[in-house]
Amino acid sequence: MTAAGGGAAELTFGPWRLGALLGLGGFSEVRRARGVEPPWAGAAQALALKRALPFLLPAAAGAFEAETAALSRVQSAHVPRLLAAGEVAGVPYVVLPEIDGASLRGLLTTGVLAPAEAATLVADLAGALASCHAAGVLHGDLAPGNVLVDTSGRAWLTDFGLATCPERPDRPARTGTPAFLDPAAAADLPRSAANDLQQLGLLWARTLTGRSPLGPGPDWHARAAAWALDASGVTAALTGAGPHGPWLQRCLAADPPAGLASSLAAAVGAARDGAGRAQLARRVAASPKTLPSALPSAAEDRGERVTDPSGETVTLSGDLHGLEPLEGSRR
Ligand SMILES: Nc1ncnc2c1ncn2[C@@H]1O[C@H](COP(=O)(O)OP(=O)(O)OP(=O)(O)O)[C@@H](O)[C@H]1O
Ligand SMILES: [Mg+2]
Repeated sequence: MTAAGGGAAELTFGPWRLGALLGLGGFSEVRRARGVEPPWAGAAQALALKRALPFLLPAAAGAFEAETAALSRVQSAHVPRLLAAGEVAGVPYVVLPEIDGASLRGLLTTGVLAPAEAATLVADLAGALASCHAAGVLHGDLAPGNVLVDTSGRAWLTDFGLATCPERPDRPARTGTPAFLDPAAAADLPRSAANDLQQLGLLWARTLTGRSPLGPGPDWHARAAAWALDASGVTAALTGAGPHGPWLQRCLAADPPAGLASSLAAAVGAARDGAGRAQLARRVAASPKTLPSALPSAAEDRGERVTDPSGETVTLSGDLHGLEPLEGSRR
């Protein structure tokens, strides 16, 4: 890579030069970046800078505080390391290693995953959650748009904008991605590590079956709230979940046992044979190099929160002026 934008024009953002648009979230844009001050000037590492969408400030600022506090604590082979954080002209940002790959949300548009692929992905994410929980961090927003799979087929847990940790114990007001809602948040109950496992269970089932066990929208909020008290409606939808079915059921149970993340990572991870990862890597290599410019639609342009028919995604965008994608992005 010769420049942050892969040869395209760069934007100046404080001590950073921003290139290709890598992704667009509900509160932020993520661009390939390079630093012009020590220690980043001339650094070989590919960087991704996530910054708040200015028209969503000050509301978006809390997500950056949450992300910075949580990522400062977590060390995991499946969570991008926080490299820098700050503010330029009142716009908060974080700098992370660029994950070269595709979002799970994008990968799932081509179909469901084979059980071995899904198990590989889930073992990685369970490992990420075990590290988060050991560090006192609850993620709170496990959804396909917040999982990246790199070109080697390794999964990364990203987007800690709804995370809580001892420094920031209060759950942010927004609740997350409709079909993957944290049941505790939906029911206004205190959040626990078990809720992250429940969301992982939703995501796992989605990768295998093509839909969230919370069912079709738009009543996800009410269903997630009911699930916080009684899981039978959610788990009943899950017959035929493959060889790891009992582990999936355990994740989705209304009260997954403490330590489930590490035992799940160990058990499901031990059963994988490399084929699932290779298959994931092939899927990433075959995924189209779509640019996030596909995102704006009429409703999004009006700055509304919208969901797609399967309820997988919440996209919030407003005036997208200035966010035109540059060349070189896979996503
Ligand atoms: N480290 C990274 N490397 C490459 N691309 C990234 C990285 N982090 C995020 N992205 C891309 O940017 C997109 C948005 O990132 P993220 O989910 O963190 O933003 P957000 O505004 O918090 O999202 P949300 O809509 O869930 O609130 C991701 O789906 C992904 O495509
Ligand atoms: Mg996100």
